Amino acid sequence: MADVFVSRRIFDQAIEQVEDAGHTVRCNDTSRILPTDELIDRTRDAEGLICLLNDPIDADVLDACPNLKVVSNVAVGYDNVDVEAATERDVLVTNTPGVLTETTADLTFALLMAAARRIPEADVYSRADRYDGWELMQPHMGVDVYGKTLGIWGMGRIGQAVARRGYHGFDMDIIYNSREPKPDAEAELDAEYVEFDTLLERSEFLSIHTPLTPETEATFDAETFERMNDEAILVNAARGPIVDEDDLAAALKAGELRGAAIDTFEDEPAVNQQLAEIEEFVVLAPHIGSASRETRLEMAEMAAANMVAGLEGSVPPNLINEDAL
Ligand code: NAP
Ligand code: GLV
Repeated sequence: MADVFVSRRIFDQAIEQVEDAGHTVRCNDTSRILPTDELIDRTRDAEGLICLLNDPIDADVLDACPNLKVVSNVAVGYDNVDVEAATERDVLVTNTPGVLTETTADLTFALLMAAARRIPEADVYSRADRYDGWELMQPHMGVDVYGKTLGIWGMGRIGQAVARRGYHGFDMDIIYNSREPKPDAEAELDAEYVEFDTLLERSEFLSIHTPLTPETEATFDAETFERMNDEAILVNAARGPIVDEDDLAAALKAGELRGAAIDTFEDEPAVNQQLAEIEEFVVLAPHIGSASRETRLEMAEMAAANMVAGLEGSVPPNLINEDAL
């Protein structure tokens, strides 16, 4: 039976699932991110590693842990894992797609609404007891969401779930850009496939839902913001490095964009201070897209199921690198 290391505190149910399959589980039962040398020390003899999206699993880690058979990432995004290096070493890599789609879409839409209607600003104002009477020209006048044009970049599971909220709930016009057109989404949501430039020009809300890859990294920078609609609100609940945050802050200050709703930061856990200084139409959240108790539990259980399957020699349900089999 195998030795499995869990890099961070996760739900007991998930640990028991792996133990019930006969494996020994050791866990960094804290919220401290392990530095790479400590992660290696504790994973060195393990056959399984359950890790989180901020554990970089690169060729050096894989070489230092030669017994590893399965790396089970508790996230749908797996840009923290060098999948090619894992495949070369016959290490299976798995993720947790699907279970977090609706929860992440809810949060994305909540952030979009919060930025448009300036809810965090209004909250701070109310708590400071500064509200002294309804008037027509209130300080927190926002912009409407319903009936606007919602642009989706990356029309996958979460992108489509966000588009569905906009179309069915808010009568929004959906435009999107992805690597491939999505006929089913077009039929259901009357969505229009557009070139990337058109997405920039026409979106009144532009929501990013691609993975972080060499192609998507820093796609949103000064030059992109210049091409965007000046009234647009940018939403990023995908991965921070897809957006150049200094350029975003500069574009917001220069009035090239109206606002931003950001759940994922370029250099997590650091929050870009230039962005943090801007209050109007800007909402920031600490990567909580999938953070409901139900969904986080399901993610952990899915990661455990992937681990158990991989260790027993079956094909894990959410295998990323079939070539490693
Ligand atoms: P998904 O179903 O794989 O969707 C990703 C979509 O991005 C795919 O439809 C793909 O297009 C598109 N795409 C990839 N590269 C592209 C490119 N260069 N240009 C345009 N489109 C591109 O994944 P998902 O489950 O929706 O998750 C998406 C991402 O959200 C994850 O990778 C993760 O980083 C992030 N995420 C964040 C949170 C959070 O807490 N904030 C939670 C969950 C996920 P095609 O289908 O056309 O090939
Ligand atoms: C969260 O960001 C995920 O990729 O699951």
